[in-house]
Amino acid sequence: MMRGTRPRREPGPLAAAPPAEADGRFLADVVEGLGRRPKALPSKYFYDKRGSELFDRICTLDEYYPTRTETALLHAHAAEIAGLCGRGTTLVELGSGSSVKVRALLDALDEPAAYRPVDISGEHLLLSAARLASDYPGLRVEPIVADYVEGFALPADTPPERTLAFFPGSTVGNFTPEEAQDFLQRLGRQIGAGGKLLIGVDLKKPRHVLEAAYDDALGVTAAFNLNLLARINRELDGTFDLDRFAHRAFYDAGKGRIEMHLESLDDQTVTVAGVPFRFARGETIHTEVSYKYSVAGFQRLANGAGWRCVRTWCDAEGLFSIHLLTFG
Ligand code: TRP
Repeated sequence: MMRGTRPRREPGPLAAAPPAEADGRFLADVVEGLGRRPKALPSKYFYDKRGSELFDRICTLDEYYPTRTETALLHAHAAEIAGLCGRGTTLVELGSGSSVKVRALLDALDEPAAYRPVDISGEHLLLSAARLASDYPGLRVEPIVADYVEGFALPADTPPERTLAFFPGSTVGNFTPEEAQDFLQRLGRQIGAGGKLLIGVDLKKPRHVLEAAYDDALGVTAAFNLNLLARINRELDGTFDLDRFAHRAFYDAGKGRIEMHLESLDDQTVTVAGVPFRFARGETIHTEVSYKYSVAGFQRLANGAGWRCVRTWCDAEGLFSIHLLTFG
């Protein structure tokens, strides 16, 4: 890799970031979600500091094929992708986490103008952005602390044709297909006609492969799921006993999606900020969906959102796909 060898063009200070994620919203969302039948919690709250660390470990697990497969695809095709994007691209990453995969693109792109990582996990984002900025001394690194689903402000300094959004990790699968279509359309409108999107999409495959990816032998995914309850205990004065809930993950082939739940192992009452919630034994809190697509199925969804497919790449085993799309 040619990390950090580009000439310095402009000073690249980290942009000032707003304070970490909004507080009162977390409590309101938890109370609302636990009041539902069936109970549910928004998956964006997985990613506190501990959750982000656990997620990084998930990405290194044997069973979790998406990360290594997508990373290999990015390395194998980065030069071609860079050629299709041209010179002076501004790269905007949605849910940038530790900003690892993007390095394959940054190494290949012809004089990228800026890298704008967007992430909800403020502290993790700023640390990752600082690390990346020191590895790429010539690059403007401008982190944006935001929930990208709610929308975020992009500096209006980049023409759409020079903008490449990067949305890896099959995070698009964590929306329902309707939400995904809606989100992709809003994203396209935000970037503008001629804007590009490189998106990673996990593919349908046999149940045992999928279920192992979301329920690993070391229990890291279980710890990640349960950390949501630990976070509620820490931040919202919750009384969840983590020994009385268990991680569950299963593939619903009819819906084409993994579902993740936290199952109550007893009849019990838990309070959050003093508000009581009753759980029956066997009752679950639904915490995540992860939809799996066929290549054609995803392309249809993208077309419905106003994006055209420029090129699609898959690994030889057909585990994972990345798609370069253009809007309008
Ligand atoms: N986008 C990832 C996926 O759906 C997110 C993810 C991976 C995840 N492993 C997880 C989310 C475990 C919750 C729990 O594959």
